[in-house]
Parts: sequence; structure tokens; C-alpha cells
Amino acid sequence: MVTDVMIGFFFAKVNVKALKALETAYAISHLGGPPYRGRDVAQAHSALPIGLGHFHRRLRLLQETLTCAQVPMDVQQRWLGQQQALLPRIVRRRSACPADG
Ligand code: HEM
Repeated sequence: MVTDVMIGFFFAKVNVKALKALETAYAISHLGGPPYRGRDVAQAHSALPIGLGHFHRRLRLLQETLTCAQVPMDVQQRWLGQQQALLPRIVRRRSACPADG
């Protein structure tokens, strides 16, 4: 994700090791583990100009990663479904039309 040509720039100044730990804890909490203790997800992304395309690209990379890791399909569906539902809380630019700016 951090080297991805479409969304890698978002992570240029981020402590990737720390982010990996937070994202892992977040995913575990939504797969039945202990509650996530980091920032609210909308708050954590509020300063970032994330558009629809960025959001879907991240989801696609996650799906490919889970498939490569042979994560069972029911777990993938739960994981991806939970993340998809966060779209309105993370995406700042909702329109996919370039003319909408
Ligand atoms: C469902 C989708 C997403 C989830 C579940 C998610 C999850 C997270 C989590 C758990 C953190 C750490 C928050 C904390 O500090 O406690 C984080 C931070 C971050 N996320 Fe996401 N994320 C999502 C989508 C995205 C997208 C689409 C992008 C950009 C393309 C993105 C870029 C970032 C960046 C740059 C940070 C670091 C922010 C900072 O350090 O201030 N995220 N994300």
C-alpha cells in the first residue's frame, strides 16, 4: 500500500511500522478480538483528502493481500464488508466525476 502508485503518497510521512500495528489491532477488533483503543477512524482520516478512487484502491489492495495469504473466503467477506461500510466516514470527496472537483 505504501509503495502503491495511486495511494502511496498518503503514507510518505507516516510511521509505517506504527501504522501497521494500529491497522492490525483495528482489524483484529472487528474480527472478534479485544476493542480497538486507537483514535476514532473518522477522526484519524479527517485531515486527509481521500477520494472514492483512493478508498476503493485501498480496498482492492486489501482484497488481493487477503487472497494471496489464503485467508478463508468467509473471513475475507466479513473483513472487506466491515471496511466498505466505513466509506462515508473516511471519504471526503464523494463524487467520482472529475468535473465535480
Ligand atoms: C476502511 C478503510 C480504512 C481503515 C479501516 C483504516 C484504518 C486506519 C487506522 C486504524 C489508522 C490508525 C489510526 C490511529 O491513529 O489510531 C489509520 C491511519 C491512516 N490511514 Fe487509514 N484506514 C482506512 C482507509 C484509508 C485510506 C483509503 C487511506 C488513503 C488512501 C488511508 C490512509 C491513512 C493514513 C495516511 C493514516 C495515518 C494518519 C496519521 O498518522 O495521522 N486510510 N487508518
